Amino acid sequence: MGIKLQTEFYNLIGQSDGILKVFDLVERAADSDSTVILTGESGTGKELIARALHHNSQRDSRGFIPVNCGAIPHELLESELFGHEKGAFTGAMQTRIGRMELADNGTLFLDEIGDMPMTLQVKLLRVLAESEIDRVGGGKPIKVNVRFITATHCNLEQAIKDGKFREDLFYRLNVIPIAIPPLRERKSDIPLLVNHYLKHFNQEKGKSITNISDAAMEILCSYQWPGNIRELANFMERMVVLSTDKILTPRDLPDKVMSDVPKETWEPLVQAEANETPAEFIRKSRNHAHYIGMPEEGVNLKQMVEEFEKELIIEALEKTNGVKNQAAILLGLNRTTLVEKLKKMNIQR
Ligand SMILES: Nc1ncnc2c1ncn2[C@@H]1O[C@H](COP(=O)(O)OP(=O)(O)OP(=O)(O)O)[C@@H](O)[C@H]1O
Ligand SMILES: [Mg+2]
Repeated sequence: MGIKLQTEFYNLIGQSDGILKVFDLVERAADSDSTVILTGESGTGKELIARALHHNSQRDSRGFIPVNCGAIPHELLESELFGHEKGAFTGAMQTRIGRMELADNGTLFLDEIGDMPMTLQVKLLRVLAESEIDRVGGGKPIKVNVRFITATHCNLEQAIKDGKFREDLFYRLNVIPIAIPPLRERKSDIPLLVNHYLKHFNQEKGKSITNISDAAMEILCSYQWPGNIRELANFMERMVVLSTDKILTPRDLPDKVMSDVPKETWEPLVQAEANETPAEFIRKSRNHAHYIGMPEEGVNLKQMVEEFEKELIIEALEKTNGVKNQAAILLGLNRTTLVEKLKKMNIQR
């Protein structure tokens, strides 16, 4: 892959066919200066892809200016985009530079373009056609050199039919369309994202959750993720913060997820995991793609080994109903060594 997938501004994760197609389009479109329109459900990564397009272009050293057309009240959006002259309207005490001018020689990212009011759509059309803007209340037009990237989660073709979006503007914007598939259509990315966010939040929250059980991973992979990657990231944060264990299991998953996934897909795994010895679990985990491995901050080897040792001893005692001779045989120890360890570890039966 010829593009930078990771910078201080974004970190793009994914290996599914769906996301690789997107990366390929980013690679080919980034440096073209052509207008790109990103479509995809909420939380699929439209803004991240917009940043990747910018940072993989010649405009990289200049500004990436995002404007959320849906979040700014309509009456403010015009001056936000085009700026205004002093005295242009009541309250315009000073001349203000708009985002279009700020994005000069850089990239303007118009998010939720479907929410742009009709009156502004006409003005945007003029910028696209003539590379000129008029500040509100301004005299002469100002030349700008802006690369446009737009994004929408709604269907603009439908908005055109409904008379809410100008068809001529749509054709101007729809030069290079990039559709980002929802997460449920690229399930193979889920383990990668889960591991990425597990590591990330472990670090950020100072926790040391080292692993996630097969059953929990299976459930996360089967869930539909209506809020896509944003929802997954928020889930991982919650699980990392709330979990008191070193391993995330289905018990740590919220009801919303559990009730969405059919029981048949995960119940056998939970059963199998319940019957596993810690040794089996660790051995198996090591062979897994989602074995997290050594946490960033390291481990306390002595303490971890002791915990593991203790779990195995308790298990051996449980299996043998507390008969120390037999437990010692299961563990390959002399009886006296076992008794010493029990004393030292404060295990009472
Ligand atoms: N490929 C990816 N790898 C890692 N993280 C990602 C990826 N795509 C998106 N994210 C993360 O998911 C979250 C949502 O991404 P982003 O804001 O780009 O989505 P969006 O499509 O613009 O969503 P919305 O429509 O809600 O604005 C962010 O926290 C982002 O970092
Ligand atoms: Mg967004």
